[in-house]
Amino acid sequence: MTTKQDKYEKLCELGRRRGFFWSSSEIYGGVSGFIDYGPLGTLLKKNIEEKWREWFVKRHQDFIVEIETPVVMPAIVFEASGHVEHFTDYIVECSRCGRKYRADHLIEDLTGLTGLEGKTADELTEIIRKYGIKCPECGGEFGPVKKFNLLFKTTIGPYSDNIGYARPEAAQGMFVNFHRIYEMMDRRLPLGIAQIGKVLRNEISPRQGPIRLREFTIMELELFFDPQNPSCPLIDEVKDVKLRLLTCEDIREGKKEPREVTVKEAIEKKLIMTEWNAYFMALAKLFMEDLGIPHEKQMFIEKLPEERAHYAAQTFDQVVWTERWGWIEVSGHAYRTDYDLRRHMEYSKRDLRAYRRLSQPRIEKKLIVKPNIELIKKQFGENAKYILRDLSRLSRDEIVQRLNEVGYVEVQDVKLSREYFIIEEREEKIEVERFIPHVAEPSFGADRVTYVVLEYAYTEKNGRVVLRLPRDVAPIKVAVFPLVKKTEFVEKAREVYNMLKKYFYAMYDDGGTIGWRYVKADEIGVPIAITIDGQTLQDNTVTLRDRDTWTQIRVPIEKLPEVLMKYFSDKSISFSDLTKFT
Ligand code: GLY
Repeated sequence: MTTKQDKYEKLCELGRRRGFFWSSSEIYGGVSGFIDYGPLGTLLKKNIEEKWREWFVKRHQDFIVEIETPVVMPAIVFEASGHVEHFTDYIVECSRCGRKYRADHLIEDLTGLTGLEGKTADELTEIIRKYGIKCPECGGEFGPVKKFNLLFKTTIGPYSDNIGYARPEAAQGMFVNFHRIYEMMDRRLPLGIAQIGKVLRNEISPRQGPIRLREFTIMELELFFDPQNPSCPLIDEVKDVKLRLLTCEDIREGKKEPREVTVKEAIEKKLIMTEWNAYFMALAKLFMEDLGIPHEKQMFIEKLPEERAHYAAQTFDQVVWTERWGWIEVSGHAYRTDYDLRRHMEYSKRDLRAYRRLSQPRIEKKLIVKPNIELIKKQFGENAKYILRDLSRLSRDEIVQRLNEVGYVEVQDVKLSREYFIIEEREEKIEVERFIPHVAEPSFGADRVTYVVLEYAYTEKNGRVVLRLPRDVAPIKVAVFPLVKKTEFVEKAREVYNMLKKYFYAMYDDGGTIGWRYVKADEIGVPIAITIDGQTLQDNTVTLRDRDTWTQIRVPIEKLPEVLMKYFSDKSISFSDLTKFT
């Protein structure tokens, strides 16, 4: 009996055979939750990352900057961020065979129950008992459900008490650097800090190939804004963009279908709490469309309060429809409030606040406390300079407190009473105040985005695969073929290939029939195939063949770089338009 392969299986097969992705450490049997990218997968993922940069960083480069910070950070960072306490899933162990499962997934798989988020360990244990759930491997009884922290733990250097964690999100690199970058950017808000990098999450039992990884690339942006001035100045640019939203309210009412609203409506109806999150959700929708995911195959699902991460006041998951797994999350849009900076201020004891110029300066009475230098010098002679030095190390409040509590300040074994200080009240004009910025975060899983791009590009035409990758992210842009393997055709084709590879990732192939070579190029999504034929040898023109329509045009060789540059830099130009440039 043959079973029909789904797109996931087809893509895995294509991925292994042609070099997109496969299981990591494969020669040792592979390890779940880790994948390797081959030559084509690496290029594709890098192109997607570059496109994310274009959508989220480059176009905002006057106020959004990109940084790169380490994967490993000291334990205190994740104690402050709340991940040591909250970044957990529930685990359950078979008391007979010792196999461990993620408790909620086990229950969902074996009973069909959903809505387990927010349940406690005891409640999950009770459900397992009530439904008589046994180990799917050996039929053994399960022990109690426990919390399992998903952080990968390590030691930094040779000291066993110097704990470090691999970051589960890039965001903490942005939070710990916020204040330095804020100063660097002339204390301006809004300020965005972005990062693309690897993160690690020690998932309990990932079984979904590239969809649930223990190590993956995140493309993340923290947008810091003043909560008293929360408007996004760019919102008008996206106000008419349509979003498909499934809100908490919809979910509670049992709705499965999203409502379609414009960004403007979503803000006016307060469906999205911050304009910045709404702005980035609009960009996220357009970004995914740009990558080939149609509007109706994506939506934003609001997380219920019990499902939200500990730092978020509101979160929408951007999800994309996949053949095997249904709706899967490709990005999360969280309103992180001032949570992270506030926590890092508490743990680091550093002031990470921003400055706000007051619209109405206010007058405040300020106590000025100065040592009476003349009196101190007169009274203590040589010793005065040491007394003054020690006094300068005390804050105004410390001096006042000591004077109020014991009536003197003791330094250098002398007790200085109130008369040794000049204390006066002055009026001060306060023009700035300090506050903790709030944060809107769009965060994308680059590997999931890469997977869905492949799934949506995967088509079959006349019984063979055509990978219709958007041309700007296709790993190989052009293929160069001699029509037949004769010296003069091969030499000319190699000449064209050598010229083009200065500009693009290109491939050369002279094996098998020309038809077979087109098949191989279509299968890996090469948008344009160039053939050197008999006419080339006469008039120096070549045929360009479009991957998607299989139509052909002729272009002079000397025009190729220019024509192809246009085609790959501007997606509004169609293949047939190219004749205009020849
Ligand atoms: N920073 C987003 C996340 O951890 O999912």
